[in-house]
Amino acid sequence: TNAVAFKKHYKSRAIPQAGRIAGAQFQEEGAGAGEAELVKSKSLDEKTIAFMFSKRSTRTRVSGETAVKLLGGAPMFLGSADIQLGVNESLYDTSRVVSSMVDGILARVGHHSEVETLAKHSTVPVINALSHLYHPLQILADLQTLVELRTPFTTDLSSLEGLTIAWVGDSNNILNEMMVTYPRLGVNLQIATPEGYPLMQEALDRANDGIAKEGGKGKIIHTHSPEEAVKGASVITTDTWISMGQEEESAKRLKDFAGYQITDELLKGAAKDAVFMHCLPRHKEEVDDAVFYGDKSVVFQEAENRKWTALAAFDAFFGKWKL
Ligand code: CP
Ligand code: NVA
Repeated sequence: TNAVAFKKHYKSRAIPQAGRIAGAQFQEEGAGAGEAELVKSKSLDEKTIAFMFSKRSTRTRVSGETAVKLLGGAPMFLGSADIQLGVNESLYDTSRVVSSMVDGILARVGHHSEVETLAKHSTVPVINALSHLYHPLQILADLQTLVELRTPFTTDLSSLEGLTIAWVGDSNNILNEMMVTYPRLGVNLQIATPEGYPLMQEALDRANDGIAKEGGKGKIIHTHSPEEAVKGASVITTDTWISMGQEEESAKRLKDFAGYQITDELLKGAAKDAVFMHCLPRHKEEVDDAVFYGDKSVVFQEAENRKWTALAAFDAFFGKWKL
């Protein structure tokens, strides 16, 4: 909800491609209520948010640092080359020390257990800025983008019910995030990964648990055929075949993923008004230029929405948090 309000306030131009996918209804209003108070509140006034990043980042860092500033706070970037962590100091000691001086931590890590350890020993809230298992800030931006494409300005995620999203690519953190989010909201997920790249059980269990608890009507279908996955889908999405940390497997992966590139030919099997999404950074092997820069692509709108959703997430989790 607040992501829509922040975007309306700071970005007065029209949303590109608003209301263009199946089931769209255009609503002028929504999210206006409380917008002025929200923006005025500067919930991070006099607060510092540490960005502990052990991997590279463009979108998460830029959206995050600008969001902290707009909320009145100070971002403090602590890359792995800057602090003692991992070289001279343990994660436990670092968590205790950093959290005793800041008001929130945004952490980009390798193994997911690192962000869990950090959260366990930190005395302030910790947000996952990407781990090998999940990337929650990305899915928030994707959700905002999907809502804009379907029912602009609504804040009601039930407007996404019945949508079908196709994933053609690796079994990775971004796919996991989609599995644990979309079916709960009634969104179907048609997944194609190559042989030897099974869905991660941990994410699948959490997805099924979420569906059971919340009565989500979305279905997860898994296949090894890209054509089968895109069939009739309104949204086609993918990500790099080589995630950060997997660089040594590059040659094998490029071979294993042959036939998985998203092209106009593959999109012929999708819904007529389908859109293409990608969390970025993008490489040509997973999607060619014609699709990536073509009229179906909403990737830059999706990237920009990282900022509006970071604002809303930081306001809720860092700004409203009290000891
Ligand atoms: N999508 C995303 O998280 O991008 P960065 O790695 O550039 O932050
Ligand atoms: N799967 C990618 C996502 C980058 C935003 C990675 O983990 O490197």
